[in-house]
Amino acid sequence: MLECGSVPAVALFPLMPLEIVVLAAGQGKRMHSALPKVLHPLAGRPLLAHVLETAQTLQPERIVVVHGHGGDAVQAAFAAAPLSWVEQSERLGTGHAVLQALPRVSGDAEVLVLYGDVPLVGAETLRELVRAARGGLAILTAEAPDASGYGRIVRDARGRVARIVEQKDASPEELRLREVNVGFLCAPARRLRAWLERVGKRNAQGEYYLTDIIAVAVAEGLEVAAVKALDWLEVAGVNSKRELALLERALQRRAAERLLESGVTLADPERIDVRGSLECGRDVAIDVNCVFEGSVRLGERVRIGPNCVLRNVTLEADTEVHAFSLLEEAQVGARCRIGPYARLRPGAVLEQEVHIGNFVEVKASRLGAGSKANHLAYIGDAQVGSRVNIGAGTITCNYDGLGKHRTVIEDDCFIGSDSTLVAPVTIGRGSYIGAGSTISKDTPAGQLTVARAKQVSLPSWKPRKKK
Ligand code: UD1
Ligand code: CA
Repeated sequence: MLECGSVPAVALFPLMPLEIVVLAAGQGKRMHSALPKVLHPLAGRPLLAHVLETAQTLQPERIVVVHGHGGDAVQAAFAAAPLSWVEQSERLGTGHAVLQALPRVSGDAEVLVLYGDVPLVGAETLRELVRAARGGLAILTAEAPDASGYGRIVRDARGRVARIVEQKDASPEELRLREVNVGFLCAPARRLRAWLERVGKRNAQGEYYLTDIIAVAVAEGLEVAAVKALDWLEVAGVNSKRELALLERALQRRAAERLLESGVTLADPERIDVRGSLECGRDVAIDVNCVFEGSVRLGERVRIGPNCVLRNVTLEADTEVHAFSLLEEAQVGARCRIGPYARLRPGAVLEQEVHIGNFVEVKASRLGAGSKANHLAYIGDAQVGSRVNIGAGTITCNYDGLGKHRTVIEDDCFIGSDSTLVAPVTIGRGSYIGAGSTISKDTPAGQLTVARAKQVSLPSWKPRKKK
């Protein structure tokens, strides 16, 4: 949603190739953290990931990322992305940072400068900014609800952009201005370089400010286009944990609104966190304090109890997850009952109508339709058939200190409570295992197998008495 002064929307100025420079070298002093600022997560992903993803949608010829503080960590976090990296070893300001990047940019490119700490800008806003530049200079501005910390846009008597003044250099009157600099701008590479070479560092922070090129361009007689973003979330910068938390809450609130609009029932829209994508069928209900990470898909009428964490999971229709369950990289069929206090680890696959109860952990195992493990069990590296009942306290001993081994439990078995199944082992179809058995050999189908010491009572035994 944009409002763009006098500049009509046009195609990219005479079709110059677009290249994007992302500034990410700042230390983020105000974060008080060892982690580089642009790696701090917002909705589960690094700040810089949000910016880069949006940048990519513009299909630029190149994206140059200027890194510095913690550069190795930043580069490592985006190793798979097709990016061009430039190190700014001395952080002398945003203007200096752009100058470091320009040698990597082709001379006839249109350059869009983005900041790695302004994560939520929309692609359409950026397109508008690129269109507005038209071979000159366009900046992105916004009316901030709270302008403190931002550079202010100073306009002349006729309302044209005259310069940007940073918070620390502003006069009391300038501090009252509400129109702020988002930090993004677009201009042809050659002109950008020429303007930047004329920027000094005589200011409160002793830095080369990118924002000073506005006054330089205006002095050359250029009219600077200002594209105004209408949504403050798009332009909010993250400089402190406080700003990060505010942005996170605003983003989560929006995710909740979208879910409500699509018909999902949320016990409290203020108490849900979506850190990735959450797809819901009709009549899904989610109780308070649930966290959804990565890609989560919930089928129709799925119900999630309070305080659950779901990470990269698919749940089919009518499945219920009860309070305090943690599900990760699992696939759950229809009409299952999980929890309370259940844990599904990567590779857990439950067919329909499976019950996984309290304090049951399932890892890299498939459970067939209608099977149940209702209390206190560990099922790891197992293939469990249909209609199997796994008693309380049952454990698949899958690890011998060196490698992992598989347990196979065929259809219709009944595993008595507190059994230990020492893998590799197969429990034949329809077997019964007596409670407390330690099973280390395959069991025949349809028989009761008991493997435990015989019970003895000692009639001559006397309780010890206190002297
Ligand atoms: C900057 C703008 C300010 C704007 C605000 C919007 C300048 C001088 N000021 O202020 O007008 O309102 O952003 O959020 O540009 N960086 C480098 N190298 C450096 C310094 C910074 O790469 O030497 C990077 C940072 O990592 C960050 C971005 O540039 O991603 C902005 O730097 P920051 O120090 O946060 O600038 P602000 O004070 O927020
Ligand atoms: Ca900033």
